[in-house]
Amino acid sequence: MRIDILTLFPAMFHGPLTESILGRASHVVPLWGTLRDRQDDKPMEIHLHDLCQWGKGKCKQVDDSPYGGGVGMVMRADVIVPAVEAVMKDGVEENRGGPFRVYLSPRGKRLTQVKVEKFAKKPWLLLLCGHYEGIDQRVIDGGWIDEEVSIGDYVLTGGELPAMVLIDAVARQLPGVLGKDASAEEESFSHILGRKREYPHYTRPEEFRGHCVPSVLLEGDHAAIALWRRAHTL
Ligand code: ADE
Repeated sequence: MRIDILTLFPAMFHGPLTESILGRASHVVPLWGTLRDRQDDKPMEIHLHDLCQWGKGKCKQVDDSPYGGGVGMVMRADVIVPAVEAVMKDGVEENRGGPFRVYLSPRGKRLTQVKVEKFAKKPWLLLLCGHYEGIDQRVIDGGWIDEEVSIGDYVLTGGELPAMVLIDAVARQLPGVLGKDASAEEESFSHILGRKREYPHYTRPEEFRGHCVPSVLLEGDHAAIALWRRAHTL
């Protein structure tokens, strides 16, 4: 899967995308046009783009004050749209079709596991990270965005952390990202568990400061264990 990220703060992505499971699963292309050493063995290829590149004037301005007045700034359509179009053009010869374009915003539809699974099936995602009061509505109304997505009903300083949340959740669904010991098939919100919360887990020791592991899990009766787990799936 290819993921392009349009952001004012590309450096924010480096820790989360270079460590742990995501670090192993992704090849990060830090700056526009530098992917010449493609690593096809990785499940994800991530391209970071600094939106300032498309900024206006000497100061590379990306935002302006809102029409109608009010506090805050709005990201300009004539900055965002050329950036989206440039990304779409860059990947065009890769035969993935166009990217599925997601704008991260608190006004968007809630990110759920069902949505995550849908995104994981796309060969190419473009994630647009908003800032300030968001982007000019004409970017959305004009059809340059396919879906506006929120990670929850609270407001963050920008779309970067939500984009990382989305990438992490999507990555876990891709073949080869999790080992077989940590399958994404039977876990909270999975289809197999009826989209419910997974049953609790225990490991050694059997007794910890007076708290015991439920005895059914120690007795090796697989049917009884399955029953217990189903009863504890919420
Ligand atoms: N940007 C700011 N807050 C957000 C949220 N809750 N979800 C997605 N993008 C955001």
